[in-house]
Amino acid sequence: MPTVFITGANRGLGLEFAKQYAADNWSVIATCRNPSKADALHSLGVEVQKLDVSDPAAIEAIKGEMEGRVIDLLINNAGVHGKDAESLFPVEPEDWIQAFKINAMAPVYLTYALMDNLAVAEKPIALTMGSQAGILSLYKKGGLYLYRTTKAAAHAAGVLLANDCKEKGIIYLVVRPGRTKTDMAGDDAPFEVDDTIKCLRQVISNATMDLAGKFVDRSGEILPWLMEKNANPGH
Ligand SMILES: NC(=O)c1ccc[n+]([C@@H]2O[C@H](COP(=O)([O-])OP(=O)(O)OC[C@H]3O[C@@H](n4cnc5c(N)ncnc54)[C@H](OP(=O)(O)O)[C@@H]3O)[C@@H](O)[C@H]2O)c1
Repeated sequence: MPTVFITGANRGLGLEFAKQYAADNWSVIATCRNPSKADALHSLGVEVQKLDVSDPAAIEAIKGEMEGRVIDLLINNAGVHGKDAESLFPVEPEDWIQAFKINAMAPVYLTYALMDNLAVAEKPIALTMGSQAGILSLYKKGGLYLYRTTKAAAHAAGVLLANDCKEKGIIYLVVRPGRTKTDMAGDDAPFEVDDTIKCLRQVISNATMDLAGKFVDRSGEILPWLMEKNANPGH
């Protein structure tokens, strides 16, 4: 029975990952900030662990907790959007820094912490939940600085992390769920939670090392945002 480790699993896309993998008889390690308030997660009958991904001490603790266990799939799902809209003004510096910790830095630290658990799996895969909001060239106006820049950083960190993971035989991807009806995206979003997670599970089960470091759409298509060779050789 394969094992999946999920962050931010108490609601939204993380909860749906837990639900669908549990229904498929995977062993699910579902983590969240407040297990005592995670009723929906407990009702799935999965293993629930406390983890605030922005806290290095908590990551160290979960590394200890997981010692000796095999993890086939790591889903770095926890994320924050922030309240800023069309301008920089409402973004508090502390909130922006916290968002970098959660959206961009935590996937790197947590993946490193669980690298040995992944490396012993048969076909280990780890991923970051990316967003088209992190492809900054798509925007002709400013705004949404907190979310857009932290997701851009998450994509960039995923490229580097994929190289380290490759050395251990771990496929590291950044995936795009598409705008989906959760607390984050709201009811106006075009995609349903169960459909989004079915699509992403398909992407995950089809993943090969060729996709390492790539930003992969829910359809399986690679979203091009990276230069593949030096603009100026030698620099
Ligand atoms: N929904 C979309 O349309 C969409 C599109 C593109 C990408 N994404 C990405 O997909 C992921 C999940 O999004 P969602 O729509 O499910 O969002 P959501 O409904 O807002 O859920 C976010 C989850 O992240 C958790 N979280 C936040 N900060 C955390 C921390 N410091 N430590 C641990 N968990 C933390 C939240 O836990 P609490 O309940 O404790 O706050 C919650 O479980 C995010 O990375 C998001 O950026 C979503």
